[in-house]
Amino acid sequence: MPGPEVTQRVAELRQELNYHNHRYYVLDNPVISDYDYDRLFQELKAIEEAHPELVTPDSPTHRIGGEPAEGFVQVEHRHTMLSLGNAFDDESLEAWHRRVTNLLDGADFSMTCELKIDGLAVSLIYENGVLVQGATRGNGFVGENVTQNLRTIRSIPLQLQGIPPPYLEVRGEVYMPVASFRRLNEERAERDEPLFANPRNSGAGTIRQLDPKITASRNMQIWVYSLGEGDGLVPPDHWEALKWLESLGFRVNPNNRLCPSLEEVKAYYHEWVEKRHDLPYEVDGVVVKVNPFNYQNSLGVVGREPRWAIAYKFPAERAETRLLDIVINVGRTGSLNPQAILEPVIVSGATVRHASLHNEEDIHRKGIKIGDWVIVERAGDVIPHVVGAIEERRTGDEVDFRMPENCPECGAAVVKPEDEAMHRCPNDSCPAQFFELLKHFVSRGAMDMDGLGEQWCRILIDRGFVGAVSDLYYLEKDKLLELDRMGDRLATKIMDNIEASKTRPLPRILFALGITHVGAEVAELLTQRYASLEQLAAAGQEELTAIAGIGPKIAESIYDYFQVQDNLAVIEKLRQAGVKLHHEIEIVDPGDLPWNGLTFVVTGSLSAMTRREAETRIKALGGGATSSVTRKTAFLVAGESPGSKLDTANRLGTRILDEAAFLRLLEAPSDALLSPLEAQ
Ligand code: IVH
Repeated sequence: MPGPEVTQRVAELRQELNYHNHRYYVLDNPVISDYDYDRLFQELKAIEEAHPELVTPDSPTHRIGGEPAEGFVQVEHRHTMLSLGNAFDDESLEAWHRRVTNLLDGADFSMTCELKIDGLAVSLIYENGVLVQGATRGNGFVGENVTQNLRTIRSIPLQLQGIPPPYLEVRGEVYMPVASFRRLNEERAERDEPLFANPRNSGAGTIRQLDPKITASRNMQIWVYSLGEGDGLVPPDHWEALKWLESLGFRVNPNNRLCPSLEEVKAYYHEWVEKRHDLPYEVDGVVVKVNPFNYQNSLGVVGREPRWAIAYKFPAERAETRLLDIVINVGRTGSLNPQAILEPVIVSGATVRHASLHNEEDIHRKGIKIGDWVIVERAGDVIPHVVGAIEERRTGDEVDFRMPENCPECGAAVVKPEDEAMHRCPNDSCPAQFFELLKHFVSRGAMDMDGLGEQWCRILIDRGFVGAVSDLYYLEKDKLLELDRMGDRLATKIMDNIEASKTRPLPRILFALGITHVGAEVAELLTQRYASLEQLAAAGQEELTAIAGIGPKIAESIYDYFQVQDNLAVIEKLRQAGVKLHHEIEIVDPGDLPWNGLTFVVTGSLSAMTRREAETRIKALGGGATSSVTRKTAFLVAGESPGSKLDTANRLGTRILDEAAFLRLLEAPSDALLSPLEAQ
């Protein structure tokens, strides 16, 4: 009989695991790392194995996750989507290998090693080579039908190559690349939206978006890692299956390796412990699979885990250290960004001295005080962040953090708009904001003035040589040579690069100006419509909003920028210095476009493109795209499940296009001007 402490511990573990399951699977918002979760899970499993009388049917060890979220149609998996047992060190991997060898009567077997992608498992079903269904894992038996979202992922083939079987199910991991995750969080920070904790959460959130256009905009990817079920050709082993899947057009990870023995498996693991941060996506371990399918079949599945595979997890990427201080960095657009100053600590091989702390609310929500012992986490090669405080280690000397009332750089009174998470310095000529702007202006993607690094930007500002970006073009070499550590070679290089930057393409110059919300892509869109900064400066907000890809918030920001006299003065000085502020492209007068003056509303889901793509196509032909049907609406494009907009259109007599009719109209845009009868 187990003692009361054991029974008590089992109850605690179950409660804790249920809580974390809910946070992870239902809320997409876990509060502990997978590594810590797996530890708890293993502990419970070990106790249950030692004391089978404590096992209950509702134990978290008997489940494969949480319940599917509401809002998607549920689909039953023909074969359960399994989970994996874990190994945390070479010894437990060896123990697994011994067990498998014994079960196979001492047979020798090869294994495949794959990276364990930290994303969201999906099942894809193809009938006669055509994608007919994509689903999440859900609880392993029942998942959610997310076909429309998965269709937007370009690395998922909609139609297979070669000779696909009549029915094929494959499984893989959908994920958000680290770079896309960062870009998404930067955009969210700019829009004052809550940030995602890591690429896995943002990826999971993205696939479970009810609106596929959101998925489409986030650059998701897939690695296919197994054959679920296939009629017809069945390869003899997993390695061959992966090669076959690749030949059908699936994205199969090139880092997979066929390992003839356990030694090679260990070498693969230790190699990737080192190299994992060089990957553009996150991985949290290595999956080792017994290769021959006949061995897999005889080993079978216990509970939710196949005996023939194991996940060898990478070590935790967390560490504990002291939070020495919280300092404020002022961003390019005036946001006050709190930064943690840490007692240096090594987290998975790199020394961490600073970590981000998003905003004041975030600090208070996490209950962090200056002087606390804190947990620091590095997720991938993303900037480390402070997870939370270790309250047990408090001495009473810790102090609460308060956002300063004045900008630490210029002293201006800080503002905090009600609906925004960030505090801001409202002073347009704040030196800290200018420092950030100058760094941005000279950076590689902007004016590309190689040689002018961060330190020189600082020095040029401090010495009073540069007070506006245009001042760079009036620098003299002799003045540069007055600076400490400035030699003739560097001065010549800087002067040459400044000169060369005068003819950068117009989108780069526009981007370099650092107008809020005008990133490289928006700059590109704007300069397709305007041939010079002068023309852009004269554009009204409504005119800007009519451009494909430009929303009201961006339009307002551009318009406001050109209302500020100082900004116009900088542009004038750039022009006088010889910076090219126009380009020779043929600008189409929007009045000449076929759908000029016609307003469209797109509703429901289309199969050939997302709603956003449809709107972009409409705008590219000169049409307007709005979200509500009124008397002014010329056409309602109704995809699948159109909802109430279709009723409104019927009531108002608006012309309704189904997807096929809309696609025909895109091919022959001038038909939109024909009357409905003529069009038939
Ligand atoms: S195999 C036995 N291979 O890890 C079949 N899974 O804990 C189980 N995963 O739900 C899946 N990369 O989401 C397999 N190369 C890989 C994987 C992988 C990531 C995920 C998958 C699965 C979970 C298992």
